[in-house]
Amino acid sequence: MPNTTSDVPMIEARDVKKRFGHNEVLRGVSLSVARGEVVAIIGPSGSGKSTFLRCLNHLETIDSGQVAIEGELLASTDAAGHCRYPQDAEVRRICAKTGMVFQHFNLFPHLTVLQNLIAAPMVVQGVARDAAIARAEALLAKVGLAQKRDNYPARLSGGQKQRVAIARALCMQPDIMLFDEPTSALDPELTGEVLRTMRELAEERMTMLVVTHEMGFAREVAQRVAFMDQGELITARPAAEFFADPGHERARAFLQHML
Ligand SMILES: Nc1ncnc2c1ncn2[C@@H]1O[C@H](COP(=O)(O)OP(=O)(O)O)[C@@H](O)[C@H]1O
Ligand SMILES: [Mg+2]
Repeated sequence: MPNTTSDVPMIEARDVKKRFGHNEVLRGVSLSVARGEVVAIIGPSGSGKSTFLRCLNHLETIDSGQVAIEGELLASTDAAGHCRYPQDAEVRRICAKTGMVFQHFNLFPHLTVLQNLIAAPMVVQGVARDAAIARAEALLAKVGLAQKRDNYPARLSGGQKQRVAIARALCMQPDIMLFDEPTSALDPELTGEVLRTMRELAEERMTMLVVTHEMGFAREVAQRVAFMDQGELITARPAAEFFADPGHERARAFLQHML
């Protein structure tokens, strides 16, 4: 039975391991995210941040460990060390609790903004066209792009594309939003508008896990900062505490490099 009490973690990853061939990319990563919490994940390139995020919504499968979303097991490992996933329909249902935003937006270029937003609700959730449009228009207004509804992505700036991508993820009404370096592909003058949209989401108590190089955002918006290095999640502590003293030499060296 799904457990709906608010003290069940929205995301619970335990000892998650993942290798690509001989490359051990996640070496036993554990992280728990509470309802309404914003956690920033920082760390050097290649440390496994994207892979970890992708394991949380089944864009990658894990080799061992456990992933639970709102108390429901997406992946678990039995005593013999075999990792199990539920049946496809169950996997899809659990993964629908999370929405993801990528560095490179991943909008459909041949669809207008509105068509990008209504496609998945109609096809995946069976939402009627009028209802999907109403939902999409409300979310476009929310991210400040109501007037772009009939434009094609190629006509938008990078910041506008990313705000559309956020609205598109929200159209599926997820309980959790996963962001993988949402501003890394943007010109510096365009990052602010995307971070502002994310900050508004955080203020509405959306549960968010955000891989980012934006230390200002991590410091001001995230409740906790997790530091990953070489496939390990080394520490996850309250943001103010982390920036005052990350507590680990590798995290300290990384911070010095970033700030
Ligand atoms: N699909 C894949 N196939 C093989 N290796 C991969 C794949 N995805 C990521 N990797 C490797 O896993 C490691 C971690 O990558 P990634 O999770 O993208 O790190 P980060 O997001 O922290 O930069 C890197 O060595 C990368 O080359
Ligand atoms: Mg990455």
